[in-house]
Amino acid sequence: MRRLVAQTRLDPAQLVLPMFVADGIDVPRPITSMPGVVNHTLDSLRLAAAEAVASGVGGLMLFGVPRPEDKDADGTCGARPDGILNRALTMLREDLGDSTVLMADTCLDEFTDHGHCGVVDAAGRVDNDATLARYRELAVAQARAGAHVVSPSGMMDGQVAAIRAALDEAGFPEVAILAYTAKYASAFYGPFREAVGSSLEGDRRTYQQDPANRTEAVRELLADLDEGADMVMVKPAMSYLDIVREVADLADRPVAAYQISGEYSMICAAAERGWIDRDAALDEAVLSIVRAGASIVLTYAAVEIAARLRRVDPAG
Ligand code: PBG
Repeated sequence: MRRLVAQTRLDPAQLVLPMFVADGIDVPRPITSMPGVVNHTLDSLRLAAAEAVASGVGGLMLFGVPRPEDKDADGTCGARPDGILNRALTMLREDLGDSTVLMADTCLDEFTDHGHCGVVDAAGRVDNDATLARYRELAVAQARAGAHVVSPSGMMDGQVAAIRAALDEAGFPEVAILAYTAKYASAFYGPFREAVGSSLEGDRRTYQQDPANRTEAVRELLADLDEGADMVMVKPAMSYLDIVREVADLADRPVAAYQISGEYSMICAAAERGWIDRDAALDEAVLSIVRAGASIVLTYAAVEIAARLRRVDPAG
């Protein structure tokens, strides 16, 4: 009966698996702060992506990890067709066609030697408008490589409009934009920085949102909708469920939320100590994010949750 009357239901199709692909490695490299998550080689990515699609998840979010020597101040390797992320997109689009939604992280922090999400000026501050020009190139390169969705995650003002115009001009009007709309300057990104080998010193508080603020998220949402975002995202998810609800109530487009690295890893860490039931905690966390209003959830546990969802539990 509990199953019959449940008000929130999860479906594998609404889960998106974030994946990391690294250049210059021969075997997949475990990310120690994210149990079960690896930096993939192109070969291991191909297998894992096929497995994820077979599990029924609705999409893949790809992050590229270049070789340290390929990083520069402007993050130029992100837009090169032979850059690791673009090579991975090309390969996966060829392999998988339209059987899943291929999403690309459209940001500079993985590619810059200073680790910021944008280019920095002489004073060391992120230069919003100079960054938009790089985002335009990144997005077009990712679309050309085969991304169905580009995902600007750098929180620059005007990033959605700039990317929409660039995609349209380059002949990719059908490529969609998943906007990181309300992205908070969070302590929970810690393990991700290991995952992408980020050299960031300092923090992102000049462009990401202050965890203390709610109305800022509404303003960012209205701007992104106005600029042409096709889907909007709140991130992190678990400490920001009120923001997810607020955005879901206001948005006339699909709302995604990202259960980020630290949120995933702290559940894994507590489980490793025997303090928490890993599977139950992950399932409950993702269910709560959907209950809060997200119709799409990015989670590192997407494939295992999809597998659990396919099993009907007669005990409810
Ligand atoms: C920026 C980006 C970040 C994450 C996704 N896109 C890092 C940041 O803003 O610091 C974090 C994802 C996670 O922590 O799981 N390219």
